Amino acid sequence: MVAVSKLQYPDTLDEMMAHLRAKLPPDTDSDLIRLRADVALEVNLLKRKRNAIILGHNYMAPSLYHSVPDYTGDSLGLSRIAASSDADVIVFAGVRFMAETAKILNPGRKVLLPSAKGGCSLAEAITAQDVRELRSRFPGAPVVSYVNTYAEVKAETDICCTSSNAAAVVSHLRREGHDRIIFLPDEYLGRNVAAETGMDVLLADKDAPGGEALASTASPTLIVWHGRCEVHDKFTTEDIDRVREQYPGVFVLAHPECSPEVVAASDYSGSTTAMIRRVREIDADHYLLLTECSMGDNIAAENPGKEMVRLCSLRCPHMQEVTLDETMAALELDQYEVDVPAQVADRARASLQRMIEIG
Ligand code: 13P
Ligand code: SF4
Repeated sequence: MVAVSKLQYPDTLDEMMAHLRAKLPPDTDSDLIRLRADVALEVNLLKRKRNAIILGHNYMAPSLYHSVPDYTGDSLGLSRIAASSDADVIVFAGVRFMAETAKILNPGRKVLLPSAKGGCSLAEAITAQDVRELRSRFPGAPVVSYVNTYAEVKAETDICCTSSNAAAVVSHLRREGHDRIIFLPDEYLGRNVAAETGMDVLLADKDAPGGEALASTASPTLIVWHGRCEVHDKFTTEDIDRVREQYPGVFVLAHPECSPEVVAASDYSGSTTAMIRRVREIDADHYLLLTECSMGDNIAAENPGKEMVRLCSLRCPHMQEVTLDETMAALELDQYEVDVPAQVADRARASLQRMIEIG
């Protein structure tokens, strides 16, 4: 989690404009800053009136990220805050699976997602029926689901994980004696976790051998689903080579949703919050971030003494749907409320709570 104490913002237009000017890219137009500052003040007023909190994922655009969230962070950090919040309303500035997680962990609160859809290519890569089929093909293998899944999939899951604890969750199951573990839906995160925990990988497509064939092999095996993040899938080792050539000594950070080849060619891999922390610590002059580009802007604003190499302008199209205007509309119009049927939520909560207990 980036911010453990509640973030505070200025409450006059001039101060908010000065605050945003210091955080937004230097070429940002003054009229635009005024407009954003105006909306941000309105959002913060509405937030107080409605006894609401705003949780802002690290991928939010700089104008929102630096002006309205009470807390910013990665999936795990924000889930923890959502679980213990006593606000009447939780506005989740992120995507649907994150808002669903907040609702599952704190069902008594109203949860609003400032975006009608808020999808995610990973969450959409697997259904509850797929998980049931996997279980029958690999009997006895526990199911680990990345938090980037919808509630129905979490309800079919033994234990959830996020990018910051996936290896710890799999190692925990190994210590409990499991040598066959199903990991879904992210193939790359699965492969990266397998490399970290010394396991073989079996890609669980329809042609892969089932449980019986696997039982005859001795090595511990992670059975991984074939989902991919449409953003992180675009980074290549050639990108890294080119940047290293141009900036010798550059420090490369990659999210574990990148391919294993990209992660292996990087200097560090971790969750969005872990990368934010690492950039603060490094003493290299240049760093390269292989993740969603708004986060790069947010990190650059925080680390003026270090130069971020701008490789791309890759934005997550789903995170991009959440804007300051949509956040204001969410609070004004009570939209879009996220609900999870109780029987699904109860089962999904158990898999999330097992994860939180592991830490
Ligand atoms: P984090 O949990 O690392 O914030 O990642 C969420 C995500 O969707 C990354 O693409
Ligand atoms: Fe999903 Fe990828 Fe967007 Fe993260 S960056 S929300 S994994 S599509």
